[in-house]
Amino acid sequence: MALLEVQGVGKTFGALRALDGVDVSVRANTFHGLIGPNGSGKSTLLKAIAGAHLADDGTITFDGSDITKMRAADRARRGLSLKFQITAVLPELSVYDNLLLSIQADEPVWALVRSRSRGEAHDRVMDALERFRLADRADDLAGELSHGLQQWLEIAMALMRRPKLLLLDEPTGGMSPEERRATGELLMPIKADCALVIVEHDLDFIKDICDHLTVLDQGRVLDDGTVAEIEASPKVQEVYTTRV
Ligand SMILES: Nc1ncnc2c1ncn2[C@@H]1O[C@H](COP(=O)(O)OP(=O)(O)OP(=O)(O)O)[C@@H](O)[C@H]1O
Ligand SMILES: [Mg+2]
Repeated sequence: MALLEVQGVGKTFGALRALDGVDVSVRANTFHGLIGPNGSGKSTLLKAIAGAHLADDGTITFDGSDITKMRAADRARRGLSLKFQITAVLPELSVYDNLLLSIQADEPVWALVRSRSRGEAHDRVMDALERFRLADRADDLAGELSHGLQQWLEIAMALMRRPKLLLLDEPTGGMSPEERRATGELLMPIKADCALVIVEHDLDFIKDICDHLTVLDQGRVLDDGTVAEIEASPKVQEVYTTRV
């Protein structure tokens, strides 16, 4: 069974059917790209998976459990992690403290005051700083980082709770081509521990890192398949040449 099964999910905002009968299946340790024109429902789908809002119909199964109606915090505890389209680091805290806080969200306070737990948390923060090329910026305020480095910090924060599935909404938005390429390099190693659902407008970037793509259009799945299958899909080409 897949790690994540989205079946027939719908979401309505007023008169607008933002998602309409969406099916998506994501296997463990794979990178799954979600693409489609503006307003096609990509962010709405990520939020329904993470529990930022509830699907109106359909079911979402994660790691064998039905999470359709579960609170976001309970989904996070089961191994789901979401980085939103908008940056959410705490700008007045250091890079180190942002990472430390994202572990603490997971632990009872009594565990943190014990030195052993603090030592382990420190090691995890140092490891994340190294992996995301932030080691020399550990003591700087997060708000002083460039936009690209803030995105990396946020991805590192989303991984601190060791999720089984990471959801990223346009992590390379506003990045330079060089920063985008580096983001791909930083993401690839996480595949050993985690699956990824990633929304991106940069098709070259997403084709490079993803195993599988789902294309949304006006709240429905237009097509779904390997990168090669989607590249060869006449339906997708039509939408991308006429509307994007
Ligand atoms: N909270 C909301 N209330 C009302 N309408 C919403 C809400 N969130 C999204 N929508 C609408 O639902 C549709 C899908 O939006 P969504 O943000 O999921 O698109 P998207 O594919 O992520 O687009 P983009 O590529 O621009 O980020 C849009 O028409 C949007 O205006
Ligand atoms: Mg969006």
